[in-house]
Amino acid sequence: MKNKIIDGTKISQKIYQDIKTEAYLLNKKHAITPCLVAVLVGDNPASHVYVRMKEKRAKELGFISKKIFLDSTITTQKLLDVIAQLNNDNSVHGILVQLPLPNHIDSFKVIESINPKKDVDCFHPQNIGKLLIGEKQNFYPCTPFGVIKLLEYSNIETTGKNIVILGRSNIVGKPMFALLSQQGRFADATVTLCHSKTKNIKEFTQKADIIIAAVGKANFLTEDMVKDDVVIIDVGINRVNDFTQERGYSLVGDVDFKNIFHKAALMTPVPGGVGPMTIAILMQNTLRAAKLLAYDTLL
Ligand code: GUN
Repeated sequence: MKNKIIDGTKISQKIYQDIKTEAYLLNKKHAITPCLVAVLVGDNPASHVYVRMKEKRAKELGFISKKIFLDSTITTQKLLDVIAQLNNDNSVHGILVQLPLPNHIDSFKVIESINPKKDVDCFHPQNIGKLLIGEKQNFYPCTPFGVIKLLEYSNIETTGKNIVILGRSNIVGKPMFALLSQQGRFADATVTLCHSKTKNIKEFTQKADIIIAAVGKANFLTEDMVKDDVVIIDVGINRVNDFTQERGYSLVGDVDFKNIFHKAALMTPVPGGVGPMTIAILMQNTLRAAKLLAYDTLL
């Protein structure tokens, strides 16, 4: 039987090989080492874990990685001041503000204040706007582009396919829609974006050739909702109580993996599917941000 698992860890390794080669050449020719700064506000435990994982990978690649920890009570203005300093610091190539920010902070203002040429998350309205109109750009949104790369490396054609995205977040659902609806290879799809107000989601998912689940609810997508030979990409990372684990929880996706597995053609696991790809694309974007300093050819 063919292997149904799309192994994100393995695919991300291939991307890291290319990054390492390019980073080596950049350093040799221009004496530039990519530098990524992560800004973390407050003490959201999941955010701290994600930032640690990003930092670990950046260091493994020989990048410079810095973290700025700020108190959860910081004002929007103070945070804008921190970002202005990073924007003005030529030794900083990529700036990442880990979301979500505390409720009292104006997240839009914060994202808008990041220099678009250092916006390695591709959250800035200028970068996300370019993505929507299919314009060339320096950065791609990490998770959605990671999903495209998973499809590409697994030879899953998307042209003319019915693709259903579950979830309309600015980080995953909407940019995912923008990428898949463009013209081109591993795009050109008929894309449906379902969300919490969609009536009868099952009617859409049952017709889907590919489902991308990004709703943040454990076991949201169940066996009765999918057709045979569907391809499923699970973006969810949910903590569920699990007292067999020392930490008291385990991580699961949005998909009832166990019960859908026999029906699907291909599936991503959680962990080890989309997660490693998100970080790989972030590193690719950081390298591009550093290259912006060295080459005029980038945008
Ligand atoms: N929060 C959840 N996902 C992300 C991400 O990809 N980047 C940032 N900055 N924050 C996030």
